[in-house]
Amino acid sequence: MNAIAVRAATPADHPRIVDLLTRSWGETVVVGHGVRYDAAELPALLAERRGRLAGLLTYDIGSEGLEVVSIDAVVRHAGVGTALLNAAAELAWAKGLDRLWLITTNDNIDALRFYQRRGMRIEGVTRGGVDASRRLKPGIPLVGDYGIEMHDEITLEMRRPVGSGIAQPG
Ligand SMILES: CC(C)(COP(=O)(O)OP(=O)(O)OC[C@H]1O[C@@H](n2cnc3c(N)ncnc32)[C@H](O)[C@@H]1OP(=O)(O)O)[C@@H](O)C(=O)NCCC(=O)NCCS
Repeated sequence: MNAIAVRAATPADHPRIVDLLTRSWGETVVVGHGVRYDAAELPALLAERRGRLAGLLTYDIGSEGLEVVSIDAVVRHAGVGTALLNAAAELAWAKGLDRLWLITTNDNIDALRFYQRRGMRIEGVTRGGVDASRRLKPGIPLVGDYGIEMHDEITLEMRRPVGSGIAQPG
């Protein structure tokens, strides 16, 4: 059975979260829309398959809803990203939030496809947003996926479906 289980991360998961983030992003710091996050210190959802870490989603809850700060599938195209995104949306709606959002970069065509296929809509483009983020995190490469120069940030969002979610205190 290859079922993917998603659960909230606990302090015991911290070392492997640091390891996964470092492998994916070079360090645990993630920068977007002018904000520098240490993703290893954020609340997180872990995906596991056969007891092994299969993916990670970190998030931040603020006045604009639940922001997905990072999402990574260890093995791609096996349903891990979908399971994580669905779990984050369920969490947001259960908390009574109306919006899940995230930033991706102009080169990340795979992620743009992934998010839009899962119902997310492009909310805006910040021209030069990646260039600004690079000043906060110089390790952000100049050239990204498919040899595309990385310059701009794209905001995508998903709104709470009418009638879903049970508001919880806190
Ligand atoms: C973006 C990302 C998180 C998506 O995760 P993923 O686990 O590969 O996504 P899924 O497997 O759920 O879905 C991807 C595709 O695989 C397909 N798929 C899902 N389960 C499958 C299975 N069992 N067999 C074959 N294909 C499958 C899905 O149908 C989907 O295709 P579609 O978009 O045409 O519908 C992943 O590509 C990733 O980690 N990227 C690198 C980090 C990154 O860029 N993060 C985003 C930063 S904004």
